[in-house]
Amino acid sequence: MMERVTILGCGYVGTALAKYWQQRGTFHITATTTTPDRVSDLEAIADRVVVLDTQNFDALRDLVADTSTLVVSVASKRVQPYDVTYLGTAHNLAQALTDLDRNAAISGSPIALKQVIYTSSCGVYGDRGGEWVSESVEVNPEGENQKILAQAEGVILDTATPTRKACVLRLGGIYGPDREIARIYQSAAGTTRPGDGLHPTNWIHRDDIVSAMNLARSNRLSGIFNVVDDDWMSNRELLDRVCELYHWEPVTWDASRPGRRSYNAKVSNQKIKAAGLSLRYPKRKL
Ligand SMILES: NC(=O)c1ccc[n+]([C@@H]2O[C@H](COP(=O)([O-])OP(=O)(O)OC[C@H]3O[C@@H](n4cnc5c(N)ncnc54)[C@H](OP(=O)(O)O)[C@@H]3O)[C@@H](O)[C@H]2O)c1
Repeated sequence: MMERVTILGCGYVGTALAKYWQQRGTFHITATTTTPDRVSDLEAIADRVVVLDTQNFDALRDLVADTSTLVVSVASKRVQPYDVTYLGTAHNLAQALTDLDRNAAISGSPIALKQVIYTSSCGVYGDRGGEWVSESVEVNPEGENQKILAQAEGVILDTATPTRKACVLRLGGIYGPDREIARIYQSAAGTTRPGDGLHPTNWIHRDDIVSAMNLARSNRLSGIFNVVDDDWMSNRELLDRVCELYHWEPVTWDASRPGRRSYNAKVSNQKIKAAGLSLRYPKRKL
C-alpha cells in the first residue's frame, strides 16, 4: 500500500522532497502551489497537484483529511503580509486539524494524519552574541518577522495529539542547486559591509533538508530540531573564501557601522544528528 504524503507549499525545498519520495516509489504524493502555471511541472513529480492558498480554509481542511504525513514548507512571496503567510497558515491548519479530529470522533473513523512537519528558521534565536544555541534555549526573536515565525511554531507544536506528532525543523540559510552560496553573495564582492563580519553563519544544503524531512516522517519525530551543517565559519571567512575561489574582489568590513542581521548565534545540530540524520554536506559546498 502506498503511503500518502502531502507537501503544502511545493517550492524549492518541497520540489526536491517530492523528487526524493517519487524515486522511492512507495509514496502517493500530493503537492500544492498557489500558481496555476506551475501545475504541469509539479505533475511530473507528484501524483496529485492542488492549487491552494492556505487562506482557503475549506480546501486546506480537505487536503489534511487525506494524508498520513503533511509537510508544511510555505514561504512568503511578499504578495501577502508575512503574518498572513506564516501565522495565517499555522492558525488555519490548526483549525483544520481540530475539525478533522472532531469529525473523526463523531464518525468513529480513524485519523489518517500521523505526522506534521513544519519548516521554520534559526532566525527565531535572535542575538546570542555568537554563542552556541540548542533547541532547549528560549527563543528570542528580534524583528517582527522572526516573532511571527516563533508564534507560528507554537501553533504548529500545539497541533500534536497522542496519535499525531508535530515537528518543527529550524532551518539555516538554504542553499543548493540554482541557489548556490556564491550566487547569493556575488553582489557583495568588492563592497564594504557594515560590522566586523565575525558572527557565525548557519547554512544547510537543500538535500540535507530533504533527508531531515524524510527522517521526521519515518521516525515520527516530534518537537523542535535545528537543521544546519557543521560549518559554522564566520560571515567574514565565508565571504573571503567565496571571493578567493571565484577570483572576485574581496569584501572589506567597517566595524564602525553596526551590522544588520536577523540573528547572531552558532546553532547546534546535535539533536537532529542524535535522532539519526547523517549530513551529506557537513562542510559547505561553495
Ligand atoms: N530561504 C531560506 O534561506 C530559508 C531559511 C530558513 C527557513 N526557510 C523556510 O524554508 C521553507 C522552504 O523554503 P523554500 O525556499 O522552499 O520556499 P519557496 O521556494 O519560496 O516555496 C514556498 C512555497 O510556498 C507556497 N506558498 C506561498 N504562500 C502560500 C500560501 N499563502 N498558501 C499556500 N502556499 C503558499 C509557494 O507557492 P507557489 O508554488 O505558488 O510559489 C511555494 O510553493 C519555508 O518555510 C521558508 O520560510 C527558508
